[in-house]
Amino acid sequence: MRYAALGGGKRLRPFLLVEAARMVSKSSIDDEEGIWMAAAALECVHVYSLVHDDLPCMDDDDLRRGKPTVHKVYDEAMAVLVGDALLTQAFETMARPEIHPNADIRLALIGNLAAASGTHGMIGGQVIDIYADGNISDAELIGQLQALKTGALIHYAVSAGGKLADATAADLQNLSTYASALGLAFQIRDDILDTEGDAKIMGKAAQKDAGLGKATFVSIHGLDGAKAYAKKLGDEAKAALALYGDKAGALNGAVDFVLERKK
Ligand code: IPE
Ligand code: IPE
Ligand code: MG
Ligand code: MG
Ligand code: MG
Repeated sequence: MRYAALGGGKRLRPFLLVEAARMVSKSSIDDEEGIWMAAAALECVHVYSLVHDDLPCMDDDDLRRGKPTVHKVYDEAMAVLVGDALLTQAFETMARPEIHPNADIRLALIGNLAAASGTHGMIGGQVIDIYADGNISDAELIGQLQALKTGALIHYAVSAGGKLADATAADLQNLSTYASALGLAFQIRDDILDTEGDAKIMGKAAQKDAGLGKATFVSIHGLDGAKAYAKKLGDEAKAALALYGDKAGALNGAVDFVLERKK
């Protein structure tokens, strides 16, 4: 579990959770232990999804975060168990009283994390990704697939950050619009990097999707079309936070990071 979770990785989801909380919070969040714990729990769910995504029965990858994948260093059984344990650990952490003094908010955050991770979230997207293969040629369907596979956890990161900092309903709506656009842009960039990225910089294999017959934003829109679409979504994400002015600096920076990232 430590091998998979520590070292490497962009920590984008925890960053988004913390910075969404900071943007809407009326006071400093630096000593709000629960926000940092929730961010770590969310990263555990993400890391579990990577460990299982790389398994031979899934994408069959040997490299992740610049290191051999868990099943290469240990074995497949251990990689399955590591993923199971990271997922379980996340919920154990989210249930702890330090997360938020209000048990109703803790309960909502736990339920939402389960929903974002499960059948109607990340796992649902992974199922379509694995089983639909080349059969998806429809731009709308690929958007739905990616919204589940990648978008759900990114959306959760931003909305959980807001809820932990007692955001208003209007704040949560703005954060939701931002997160939906950012999540889509993030997966488009992932697909672009798979096509034209440098495996050494990315720390994971490149040029895998086409060989596996995956339907991606690049297979549907072409490279230039995918880049233009990501840029448009980036503008939408920033527009959703326009009224926060300088307070949105970190979340706007995340948009630029997502659009320009090389890994
Ligand atoms: C990779 O996620 C898997 C996708 C959802 C596309 P990241 O690109 O955030 O991976 P790390 O956490 O930086 O390794
Ligand atoms: C995986 O998507 C998304 C997850 C839920 C883990 P990919 O299969 O495209 O992610 P990479 O490219 O292996 O990181
Ligand atoms: Mg995959
Ligand atoms: Mg993969
Ligand atoms: Mg990919």
